[in-house]
Amino acid sequence: MSTKDSRGLTVSTSDAAALDGYERAATLTHGYFGNPLAVIDEALAVQPDFALGHCLKAAIAVMSSERAALPMLRDSVEAIERLGRKATDRERAHAAAGRAWLEGDFVRSVRLYGEIALEHPLDLLALQTAHVGDFYLGESTMLRDRIAQVLPCWSPEVPGFGFVLGMYAFGLEETALYSRAEDAGRRALDLNPRDPWAVHAVAHVLEMQGRIREGIDWLNSTRGDWAEDCGFAYHNWWHLALHHLELDEYDRALELYDRAIHPRSTQVALELVDASALLWRLTLRGVDVGGRWKQVADDWSQTAEGGFYAFNDVHGLMAYAAAGRDADVARVLEILARRAGEPDTNGTMSRDVALPLARAVAALSQGDAAAAVECIVPMRTRAHRFGGSHAQRDIVHLTLLEAAHRAGRVGLERALASERTELKPTSPFNWKLTARALEAAGDVQGARKTREHADVRRRAQQRSAAA
Ligand SMILES: [Fe+2]
Repeated sequence: MSTKDSRGLTVSTSDAAALDGYERAATLTHGYFGNPLAVIDEALAVQPDFALGHCLKAAIAVMSSERAALPMLRDSVEAIERLGRKATDRERAHAAAGRAWLEGDFVRSVRLYGEIALEHPLDLLALQTAHVGDFYLGESTMLRDRIAQVLPCWSPEVPGFGFVLGMYAFGLEETALYSRAEDAGRRALDLNPRDPWAVHAVAHVLEMQGRIREGIDWLNSTRGDWAEDCGFAYHNWWHLALHHLELDEYDRALELYDRAIHPRSTQVALELVDASALLWRLTLRGVDVGGRWKQVADDWSQTAEGGFYAFNDVHGLMAYAAAGRDADVARVLEILARRAGEPDTNGTMSRDVALPLARAVAALSQGDAAAAVECIVPMRTRAHRFGGSHAQRDIVHLTLLEAAHRAGRVGLERALASERTELKPTSPFNWKLTARALEAAGDVQGARKTREHADVRRRAQQRSAAA
């Protein structure tokens, strides 16, 4: 027996309670709220053969980007496969996409989830999983166009349209179409304010355009819609902390870190990525972060990560390097070197991006800034291949700039500072970096004027908050 879900897609169950459990759990998943696994497990306890329930669990496992989720992914995929023709073609396509992920072929997995969305444009779960997969693969264009491909089939009358617009907003932002991204994000939130991904897309626009005070106000004014009981909140808080860094408000950034970004021990890799990324930015600036690195390094060492997703590995290594854990640094470098010789998706990411970047982080931490420069210069323009957003990958460029400064590579330092400042002239931090580069090159007067300009920029952003 089959029936239809809330968007008219055929599902292989006629059990209204199971389907209702799926709808509720899927909606939580689309918004990153609550505990969708608990909700779907209740439905599966009553009906263990509920294929769509297993599809949801598989998608959640894929979207976590964690090795620790693989056992759940395997169980879910096998449960659907055992059903054979009792599952619909669409449900079995979910199993195939999940199996590709299980086999380490992330590229094929994302393609298969995307193909489900081509065949069934209203399959929001497949669309979201492909979108998140595009993010992990650094496929900026597909972050945008995969959503555009299905947009004609959606309208405000179809449940979940806001989530689709929120994803489109992020894709537009990652392809630098900022004005349209902001518009799509705000339209998404008009339809459904409880969409942390759409809030996040607009936060990215404000970050990339250097609209610092607007970014702070945006996240603070919308927090009532995303901060509570949300598995994505830490990341929006992280974006807020980035804005405070721009204004040299380090105490505020650390307060956010302690309260909302890494408030307690966790083994959730995505949370630890943000913890490492924020502390690394502060450490590059010479800010004393106290015992926080040790806590993050302890947490990373408790995870099952290592050789699964290179983006996570580099962030784990940052914690080990900054905490002075040389043995752990050597262990991660060894894992990345081994994975760099393997042909799967993570092997490619490790070879092209993560290994040289990790070597640079290790070298810089050990005082060899010149070696760090040599590691990063050849790879920095292909850093997108290991995923993440432009805002996250800025850590590559920040690390290189600091390494160039410490290595006395004044020409390179000035060039990198200039790149940043030309791209985002509203950033007081970029002007400070330019001033420091001029000083290093012996242009004392130019440095003084530029530093004054940085102060003017900072005060202007602070004033716009008060206005
Ligand atoms: Fe982000």
